Amino acid sequence: MKIIHLSDCHFIDPAPKDAAAAGKAHPQHTLQNVIADINKWQSDAELCIISGDLTHDGTALQYGLFASTINALPMPVHVIPGNHDARAALLAGLPATGRDENGFINYAFTHKGIRLVFLDTLIEGEDAGILCEKRLAWLTRELATSQNLPVLIFMHHPPVAVGLPFMDSINLQNADEFGDVISMHGNVKHIFFGHLHRPCHGIWRNIPWTCGPSSYTGQPLAMQPGTGLPDKAWLEPGYGIALINENDASVCYHVETVPNPKI
Ligand SMILES: [Fe+2]
Repeated sequence: MKIIHLSDCHFIDPAPKDAAAAGKAHPQHTLQNVIADINKWQSDAELCIISGDLTHDGTALQYGLFASTINALPMPVHVIPGNHDARAALLAGLPATGRDENGFINYAFTHKGIRLVFLDTLIEGEDAGILCEKRLAWLTRELATSQNLPVLIFMHHPPVAVGLPFMDSINLQNADEFGDVISMHGNVKHIFFGHLHRPCHGIWRNIPWTCGPSSYTGQPLAMQPGTGLPDKAWLEPGYGIALINENDASVCYHVETVPNPKI
């Protein structure tokens, strides 16, 4: 099974007023470039999953632009929110998106014997993420129901510290509670997330995890304390290609970069 993993698209308005955005490649153009590469080289992928920060400001205008842009992907697309998203506007702009009984963007489906679980870690108006009591209850139920299936989880916020002090301060705030729920069931085989704007991977609670790249900008490695980004190379926009073994749900993950479009 081949899954395309996109993340952190950060759509802004078509003509941004923000001076910082002026002179940079527009995130719609970087995503269009990424999609052109996917359509040329990876059009056999079965699904595309976008792990949050679809927009930068969560406005209807930005979701409209985003929805029309991802229409160019030939495979089904599934999204979850990131800290820059707004739940109601996302659901209005992308009405096919799943949601749970409490209105959170938690949903799941089975594809080729593998359960794909999508989690909403958004705290509206804040950069850090959480899985509140209601969302953890949904996940507990979901993992119990799919106990006999291997599970892949997709979420925006990392449940682990990654050595980037600023990003580690705004990751999933109750990772231990989340970890206790997934450890209790033992069927989660891999966790995918975004938020960091740079690919990395590791193992947490005996579960491998992968952070995918941003389709907009890849941040420089900021391992020193402080909120500023170091003056060093920014990564190119990119996307992930997850090859999933259908027998055991093991994952091989490739990162492809696509050069910034000329402005
Ligand atoms: Fe982001």
